[in-house]
Amino acid sequence: MPELVSPDIKYKESFISSIDAYKEENWERYMSLDPAWLQDHFDEFIEQVQKESRGEGLKEGWVPHTEFWLTEGDQFLGRLDIRHELNGFLHAIGGHIGYDVRRDQRGKGYGHMILELGLQKAKEMGFEKILITCDASNTPSRKVIEKHGGLLENSVTQGEGKPDKNRYWIKI
Ligand SMILES: CC(C)(COP(=O)(O)OP(=O)(O)OC[C@H]1O[C@@H](n2cnc3c(N)ncnc32)[C@H](O)[C@@H]1OP(=O)(O)O)[C@@H](O)C(=O)NCCC(=O)NCCS
Repeated sequence: MPELVSPDIKYKESFISSIDAYKEENWERYMSLDPAWLQDHFDEFIEQVQKESRGEGLKEGWVPHTEFWLTEGDQFLGRLDIRHELNGFLHAIGGHIGYDVRRDQRGKGYGHMILELGLQKAKEMGFEKILITCDASNTPSRKVIEKHGGLLENSVTQGEGKPDKNRYWIKI
C-alpha cells in the first residue's frame, strides 16, 4: 500500500529515474535537478529538502515548505509539497499545496491518494484549511481537488499565453 513519507535516500534510484520525464513538461521543481549530480550527492539533496522545511537555506522569496513523497516499497510515485504560509505569489497563484505524480504512474488513482494523504499531513501540521490551485485546463488536477472538497473561490488570469488559475479552499 503506498504511503506518504519524508524524502529518503532509499528512493534515490527511483526518484532520479523520474526526473527526465518531468523535465519534458517543464515543471519548475524538476528543471533545476541534474540526475548526474544527484547520483553522487543525493544525501546533500535530501539534507537541503530537510533544511527548507526548517526555513533554512531558502531561495529568495520562498517560504518554509515541507516535502513528502508518495512511495511504495523503494519506488518513488509522486511528490507533495506543503508551504507553511502564503506570501503574495502563493496567495494569488501557488497555494499551500503542490503535488505531482511521476509521468509513468498517472491515471492509476495516485493523484487522489496523494492529496488525501497530504491533507492528513497538513492537519497534523496544524492547518484547518488550505488554498490549492490548478490551471483551469488541468482536468486531472481539477478532479482531484474537487473530489477532496475544494471550493472554488475564483479563477484568475496569469497573463498572456498562460491558462487561468483556479483557486480553491479545502477545509480539513
Ligand atoms: C494532476 C496529477 C497529480 C493527477 O494524478 P493522477 O495519478 O494521474 O490522478 P488520478 O489517477 O488519481 O486521476 C484523477 C482524476 O483525473 C482523471 N484523469 C487522469 N488522467 C486524465 C487525463 N489525461 N485526462 C482527463 N482526466 C484524467 C482520472 O480519471 C480521475 O478522474 P475521476 O476523479 O473522475 O476518477 C497528475 O496528472 C500530474 O502529476 N500532473 C502534472 C503535475 C500537476 O499538474 N500537478 C498539479 C498542479 S496543480
